[in-house]
Amino acid sequence: MTDRRATLFGSTIRALEADDLARIRRPLPPETEFDFAAGEWRLRVPDEVRYALAETTRRSELGYSEPHGDSALREAFLGDLDGARASRHEIDVIITAGAKEGLWIALQQLVEEREPSFASTPNVLAPEPGWEPYRSWIKALNLRRVAYDPIALVRDPESVLGQPALKGAILVVNYPNNPTGVAASQEALNRIACAARRYGSAILADEVYRHYADELTSLAKCPDYEPRLDIIVDSASKWLAGAGLRVGFLVAAPERAARAGLFRTSYGSCPSGIGQQLALTLMQEPACRDWTASLQTTAAENISLLSRELASIGLAVESAGALYLWLKHHDISFNSNGIPAALVTDGATFGAAGYVRVCVARKVTSPHSAAIAIAIGSKS
Ligand SMILES: Cc1ncc(COP(=O)(O)O)c(C=O)c1O
Repeated sequence: MTDRRATLFGSTIRALEADDLARIRRPLPPETEFDFAAGEWRLRVPDEVRYALAETTRRSELGYSEPHGDSALREAFLGDLDGARASRHEIDVIITAGAKEGLWIALQQLVEEREPSFASTPNVLAPEPGWEPYRSWIKALNLRRVAYDPIALVRDPESVLGQPALKGAILVVNYPNNPTGVAASQEALNRIACAARRYGSAILADEVYRHYADELTSLAKCPDYEPRLDIIVDSASKWLAGAGLRVGFLVAAPERAARAGLFRTSYGSCPSGIGQQLALTLMQEPACRDWTASLQTTAAENISLLSRELASIGLAVESAGALYLWLKHHDISFNSNGIPAALVTDGATFGAAGYVRVCVARKVTSPHSAAIAIAIGSKS
């Protein structure tokens, strides 16, 4: 354990390749009508929501937060996991600096605390196409990455998990999936959790897009969910359109959540108390709830409008869901009539060259022009 921690910093930096660093340093692209690259909401926040947030700021204290996070926010989050199979004393949540910190702590914890009888170099099953930090983290921790197709896991979890060499692997699941939008029904998640138990896998569930799925699914609702083995991570970034708040949630058995919190105190403190209060306001204030509910509707409408327009110009969408459309990149020359190319994200970022990701968390005023701009597409 000491050895791994001693080299963690260096290997994390090495795992961030030149491309990643360039991406981190690059300033945000200019706000254009056809910026479909940045994976967060780009909308004007309504006045009622701004007032509610301003009122919360006015009342907030400036001191340190409670070490594991604001207790009202933690209870509200667990309340939102409606239908969780575990009872309240079997699960707890700590607040993290976004899902990113939660997932990074969780992965390290799953590696440290796994059964010693499993393979000495842990296998981590990660989705491909998939969110790129999973790859960097697995590399930084010197683990063995086994890529799986997120559609294949939904269709047949046994075929993905049931290979003898993968016994005891850590399974990262992310549904709806970034970048493909592919979702898993609750029934499919149940089957995945059941297969994970059969083959000794612990699950790391990245649920940051769950509020954008047709069905409000969660690993916590699966009959085979085991809070002492699995870790669930969520965040205010997508669900509450509050990426800048840096408020995330790590859910596990109480003693495990407490150890995750203790590990965090070795290098940092809980995110800003004001940020947490703002997240709670976004979750609970009626005006904010109406707004975040309307975002879910807007994302679904944009997906259907843009899919239809893209199809009308001969571009088939491979899959879509949450905030994303996923399609093959075609070098087609369109008569653009002066329409500029749209910014889209290169599928290579997610391990799938030849594809592009289109983020629909935007106002789409002219779907037809947007579709042409996407077809001309300039990859970022
Ligand atoms: C799949 C996935 N997980 C986690 C995150 C990170 O979210 P946060 O802003 O809460 O760190 C993102 C952000 O894009 C994501 O796409």
